[in-house]
Amino acid sequence: KTIYLKDYTPFGFTVESVHLTFDLAPRATRVIAKIEFAPNPERTDKTFFLHGEELKLKWAKIDGTEVSPVVTDDGLRCDVPDGPFTWECEVEISPETNTALEGLYMSNGMYCTQCEAEGFRKITYYPDRPDVMSTFTVRIEGDEPVKLSNGNPTGSGDGWAEWHDPWPKPAYLFALVAGNLVNHPDSFTTMSGKDVELNIWVRPGDEHKCAFGMEALKKSMRWDEEVYGREYDLDIFNIVAVDDFNMGAMENKGLNVFNSSCVLASPETSTDDNFERIEAIIAHEYFHNWTGNRITCRDWFQLCLKEGLTVFRDAQFTADMRGEPVKRIHDVIDLRARQFPEDQGPLSHPVRPESFQEINNFYTATVYEKGAEVIGMLKSLVGDEAYYKALDLYFDRQDGQACTIEDWLKVFEDVTGRDLSQFKLWYSQSGTPRVSVADDWSDGTYTLTFKQHTPPTPGQEVKDPKVIPIAVGLLNPNGDEIVPTRMLEMTEAEQSFTFDGLASKPTPSILRGFSAPVVLERVVSREEQAFLLAHDTDPFNRWEANRTLTRNCLVNMITDDAEPDDAWLTGLEKVVRDDTLDPDYRQLMLSGPTQSELAQVLFEQGVTPDPDKIWDASERLRQHIANKWQGWLKDLADQMVVDAPYSPDAEQTGKRALSGALLSLISRLDGGAAAQERFDTADNMTLQLSALTHLIRAGRGDAALEAFYTQWRNDRLVMDKWFGIQVGMADPGVAVDVATALSQHEDFDWKNPNRFRAVMGGLAMNHAGFHRKDGAGYAFLADWLIRLDDKNPQTTARMCSVFQTWKRYDANRQALIREQLERIKAKPKLSRDTDEMVTRILG
Ligand code: ARG
Ligand code: ZN
Repeated sequence: KTIYLKDYTPFGFTVESVHLTFDLAPRATRVIAKIEFAPNPERTDKTFFLHGEELKLKWAKIDGTEVSPVVTDDGLRCDVPDGPFTWECEVEISPETNTALEGLYMSNGMYCTQCEAEGFRKITYYPDRPDVMSTFTVRIEGDEPVKLSNGNPTGSGDGWAEWHDPWPKPAYLFALVAGNLVNHPDSFTTMSGKDVELNIWVRPGDEHKCAFGMEALKKSMRWDEEVYGREYDLDIFNIVAVDDFNMGAMENKGLNVFNSSCVLASPETSTDDNFERIEAIIAHEYFHNWTGNRITCRDWFQLCLKEGLTVFRDAQFTADMRGEPVKRIHDVIDLRARQFPEDQGPLSHPVRPESFQEINNFYTATVYEKGAEVIGMLKSLVGDEAYYKALDLYFDRQDGQACTIEDWLKVFEDVTGRDLSQFKLWYSQSGTPRVSVADDWSDGTYTLTFKQHTPPTPGQEVKDPKVIPIAVGLLNPNGDEIVPTRMLEMTEAEQSFTFDGLASKPTPSILRGFSAPVVLERVVSREEQAFLLAHDTDPFNRWEANRTLTRNCLVNMITDDAEPDDAWLTGLEKVVRDDTLDPDYRQLMLSGPTQSELAQVLFEQGVTPDPDKIWDASERLRQHIANKWQGWLKDLADQMVVDAPYSPDAEQTGKRALSGALLSLISRLDGGAAAQERFDTADNMTLQLSALTHLIRAGRGDAALEAFYTQWRNDRLVMDKWFGIQVGMADPGVAVDVATALSQHEDFDWKNPNRFRAVMGGLAMNHAGFHRKDGAGYAFLADWLIRLDDKNPQTTARMCSVFQTWKRYDANRQALIREQLERIKAKPKLSRDTDEMVTRILG
């Protein structure tokens, strides 16, 4: 059943208050609800329908009198009085057998919940939609030593605890946690002087992995006060780490629940990348307190209202903590790797979708990351001052409400007097715009002429021109910047911009900082790219020039059997050895496009990508670079050695990143000797894991893998790395065999989403391995998806997206993939989640 944005109607009732009592038991938890309803003055429909799934209804009462509602698979209907009334009911649920990890479930003996988007209906009968907001009072009964819910604690005693959340909220922000947990406590004084108690709750044994997350939380709280003027609004803020979790984390009011991989960190067990990601996710969930919780979404079509804005805010935070250019480059790499294929394939959908069958399938890179890009563009167009004014107005005007994208844009229109109706197309039109550029030079005037075009996407044949902010700077032939960055505002299908009074024909630096999520189609000579690599003052575009040169070099190697481009490598060498530049930036210069990205580039050039050839060219290029640079690689690696105690700060992280990239090249010269030494002496996970990677690539990883297993077999998060790396780094010819063997390993717990993703995601990332010619990779994954679908539809459906790029490949591979997609689709009792994904991918 498809649900449409245009069909929105308000619920017929308002909820004045919710009282819940939980009597916890693994297979028979009793939930007693007492809810005060009143007629909604804005209603168009008086039907009293409450969502409810997999609930055993024991009894229901209205105003104290027992009633007999009509119960169906998805909820219940009941006749109700004309005025306000009290609804009471008791249901029984079974958290222990809830493997979907949605609603109330158990993870390692701990009770926990995940309600976004529509999990609350698996806890009790309720109008489970974000525009119904209420205060909640929760009583938890059970022997568990720790019992948590939203808001402030209001009392506890032998076998019970009570919580009250004074802030009206939708049910998707409800949370309950109970179990044998220990806390890492701290406190924070807000800008108005209120003391807030902070806790990170973990299973006994994980206490030593909380300190970093706590620091990240306090930094986030301070940052949101300083940059957005947003203060925390309860007496307590709790974070809980859970091992079995479908997504990264969840912003439940006052009780954030995290996938343990997104909060637990220690130098011995976590890589620098893990630390950075944890800091960002803690910030993200905390920032939701204002952008998501205080101001929430009217309906799930507006998901980007909270997610796009919150991703944008967490990116600003990370940029402030760790440096702007490097964060921007990381985000663009990620956008191109995950959002571009989505936007340009069968799963393409607008940032604000107009229909869905299963909302869980729309927690996508488009809603999140493109949604954040749209906010970045808005900020560029109106300028910083107007942006923060508009945000102040947004927080002021919309506080306590469930809002739409229209409400969001209206604050910008009111603050700036601009008409944003054309800009709004970014929310409604799917697809990645392609922008081409021509230039002209005469009599001291330089003209850039842009054309924009968005190819058709499923359900949207025709596209209108969008507002595209294009940041441009000009360099003179000496490499000096003669026109600093100017934000051109493109609104037409074709549009020219002129620059006067120039002494000589400049070199343009276009789309600086990646000012819009578009594909820039500009044929630039190698010489000009090399010039930008040497001279561009915009760090993003300098990196971009190198990225383009790398890509072109690889494409030529693949399609023409060309030799690597040595002129480019000479330019790259200068940058990599330039110690006035930050090591993390130099490392990013060394990181080439992924093989999947190359497949996409070839496809767009009309060449059918051959995964084996792509793999081969990538390998040849790495070997060529190693040979060419062998004289100085080791010296530079030695300079990157960190002499201080481990810290995951930007400076040390950058050094380790560059040194890891160098070690990868060195391993191609010494057969892995230096990597072995580093593996044997490493005292932190960043060095240990990168050394292990290079050993596997060098074909001598077996002993190290075994040692690693012995050392870490009791640490679930480290074991996820052990599983993932072996599949991801395997030679393409054996990747499926490695994955198969690991899926039979005694530690392969396929019902744990992290472990499942480690192996299956590792295989999908091994481009040539997954796309093995005989289709073994496709069949292996499909077998597992079919098996997991009964247990965990959400994780199954998400994993299906690895098939979304199937139309790039040759007819033979396409037929093999189609066969597997159809096999999944034919599975009896296929979940709505997976069915929708597979159907859309098949097209
Ligand atoms: N709101 C959460 C976040 O962005 C994600 C929860 C997604 N859950 C889901 N079942 N789709 O932090
Ligand atoms: Zn979020």
